[in-house]
Amino acid sequence: MIPDSATTTQDIEQRLLKIRDRPVVLEAKHLTRHFRTSQGGTAVALQDVSFQIHRREFVTVIGPSGCGKSTLVRLLAGLDEPTMGEILVDGKTVNGPGPDRGMVFQSYTLFPWLTVQKNVEFGLRMQGKGDNECRSQALQWLEMVGLESKADFYPHQLSGGMKQRVAIARALAARPRVLLMDEPFGALDPETRAQMQSYLLQIWQNINITIVFITHDLDEAVLLADRILVLGAADGVHPGGHLKQFMDVPLPYPHDVDVLRDPKFMAVRTHLDDLVHPRRELVRDRLPITRMVPLGDDV
Ligand SMILES: Nc1ncnc2c1ncn2[C@@H]1O[C@H](COP(=O)(O)OP(=O)(O)O)[C@@H](O)[C@H]1O
Ligand SMILES: [Mg+2]
Repeated sequence: MIPDSATTTQDIEQRLLKIRDRPVVLEAKHLTRHFRTSQGGTAVALQDVSFQIHRREFVTVIGPSGCGKSTLVRLLAGLDEPTMGEILVDGKTVNGPGPDRGMVFQSYTLFPWLTVQKNVEFGLRMQGKGDNECRSQALQWLEMVGLESKADFYPHQLSGGMKQRVAIARALAARPRVLLMDEPFGALDPETRAQMQSYLLQIWQNINITIVFITHDLDEAVLLADRILVLGAADGVHPGGHLKQFMDVPLPYPHDVDVLRDPKFMAVRTHLDDLVHPRRELVRDRLPITRMVPLGDDV
């Protein structure tokens, strides 16, 4: 399914408004997660985070290090339980991991003893599908990520980008409602990363999937998303990670790498930068000039 393209400001606004009319797939209600610290105190990883994500939305989650991004995605995946609040998928409360949510992590998580094909088949076998069905479906998903020629390779024979494409194929093969991705391209070199972003946008445009994508890269957050969920770290008002803004990305659609050259891209990125790095003055802070040894002409 290829979505309609939107180019004028009015088109873009209309498209973003129409997304809100789609059914809610994923909902967080007053999500809070506290951890016990080794000193016996309480660390607030997330405090009272609520949001709704609609069908076929691409949402990126951004925020400074330690603001609770990984905690949030682990809660959404059902790998961790909230201290308070709840998560719903299609209106049903999440009580643990389930086939309705697929995960792709930053670290490579393929089974090293299985071929690429068998890695992708894994989730299908867990669903009790027969041999032939597993084989043909796995091949289709490998085709989708452009790796059918590598079906018989083992993970160690693949580049980092290829491993993540197999991880995406494996997660999608189980036909989840939501794909949860925690900094999936964080370990890749910039060129491979840009290629992976382009692949992911193409895959998303071809299938019916809602994506929640964690990143700490501002360009990546704007390039990929319909909407950006901005988390803030603890400050004078909030005891820990909290929702700062859930903002629209008013850029021509479908997004592709050309968006990076759009003047509107810079405007969105600057706004995001101010939200995520409000304390940039600290970086500009000058150290006192203290010379320990006299500087000669040779320095
Ligand atoms: N298992 C844990 N035990 C104790 N504290 C944790 C645990 N997991 C995360 N935290 C704390 O919760 C906060 C948010 O962590 P995390 O979700 O990993 O942030 P991010 O992914 O945004 O960098 C941090 O202060 C972190 O130290
Ligand atoms: Mg993290």
